[in-house]
Amino acid sequence: MAKKLIILGVTGSIGRNAVDIVLSHPDEFSVTAVAALRSKDACEDLARRLGAKAYVGEDAAVRAVEENDADICLVATVGLSGLKPTLAAIAKGMDIALATKEVMVMAGELVTREARRAGVRFLPVDSEHSAVDQCLAGERGLGLGSRSSVDRLILTASGGPFLDAPADLSTVTVAQALNHPRWKMGPKVTVDSSTMMNKGFEILEARWLFDVPVDRIDVVVHPESIVHSLVTFTDGSTLAQLSPPDMRVAIQYALTGPDRLSSERQRLDLSAIGALHFRAPDPVRFPCLRLVKEACQAGGCATAVLAAADEWAVSAFLAGRIGYVQIAESVEKCLSAAPQMACDSLEAVLEANDWTWRKLEG
Ligand SMILES: NC(=O)c1ccc[n+]([C@@H]2O[C@H](COP(=O)([O-])OP(=O)(O)OC[C@H]3O[C@@H](n4cnc5c(N)ncnc54)[C@H](OP(=O)(O)O)[C@@H]3O)[C@@H](O)[C@H]2O)c1
Repeated sequence: MAKKLIILGVTGSIGRNAVDIVLSHPDEFSVTAVAALRSKDACEDLARRLGAKAYVGEDAAVRAVEENDADICLVATVGLSGLKPTLAAIAKGMDIALATKEVMVMAGELVTREARRAGVRFLPVDSEHSAVDQCLAGERGLGLGSRSSVDRLILTASGGPFLDAPADLSTVTVAQALNHPRWKMGPKVTVDSSTMMNKGFEILEARWLFDVPVDRIDVVVHPESIVHSLVTFTDGSTLAQLSPPDMRVAIQYALTGPDRLSSERQRLDLSAIGALHFRAPDPVRFPCLRLVKEACQAGGCATAVLAAADEWAVSAFLAGRIGYVQIAESVEKCLSAAPQMACDSLEAVLEANDWTWRKLEG
């Protein structure tokens, strides 16, 4: 029987890739509802092609979940907007195919606890977490289960557009930050990739998805974006997942894993690629990785403040209100002043978010 889906953020980069997968496999999937924020015509057009209901506006994602049923809810909005619909979908017993990593960064404790209670699964959509999931699935069929044989997770990072740029990034323009060398993505995640905040978020996402402590999650820069991540096991063996950089591979696996659906997508040709390169990230050029570690050490709501400050700063940068280096500076300013508070409820996460926006707007 076809799996029923809800797609939140249907007009975005992930959402449109998901639509492409669904339309290529009409017997495997049906879509009951789709949601977007502002793109009314595009959302309605996609809904018509899918035979789904369209929801547009601030509360569209929550309404789409509350008024429709599905086996899997694909959460592919941006930032904090993913949190309430994720909780609503969990409460209705849907598995969550999670693209919106900020949900885990801000509220990992809350949403994983609610998912355990409801008996639903998180299905990773990020290519790195999909890679880890695929490496773990081969481990005696454990998938997202036992972690006892896992030594380290190694997340790969493309390094973004400024990997080899001159060290002074103070004159970086919006167009330069949006010019990602490998991946075509929405603006927020593209800027986050350029600062490597995105990779920091992925460390936190992996911590909650796979129940592996942050100090056992490494990052390695891999400019070709062919190896999507690796798992080192306690016997010294390391598994990796490789594919050409195409998000549809990861999105499709989230919707079908551990089963695989065939596709005509480009196959990996290692002899044509020739060489794969790896190096350590530069902590001076990419201070956001340090800020993520500091937020983890601070605990409580610090990672919610981190994500909220980054959401404010990236939108301010995209709107021309602050410069590029002020993205990390804004985050650091909030982290160093953040009050200590637990972050185990929706109210606490929203309060941390509001505190951060007041601090930055004030
Ligand atoms: N793109 C990638 O390859 C990629 C890879 C890994 C992870 N991710 C993660 O996936 C998420 C989506 O990324 P993206 O690149 O697809 O973003 P995007 O292209 O900017 O698309 C965002 C989508 O979310 C919708 N949206 C935003 N706020 C909403 C709200 N409050 N309610 C309902 N819909 C809302 C937008 O609607 P409108 O069109 O109406 O504005 C749009 O459909 C991000 O968290 C990102 O970090 C993306």
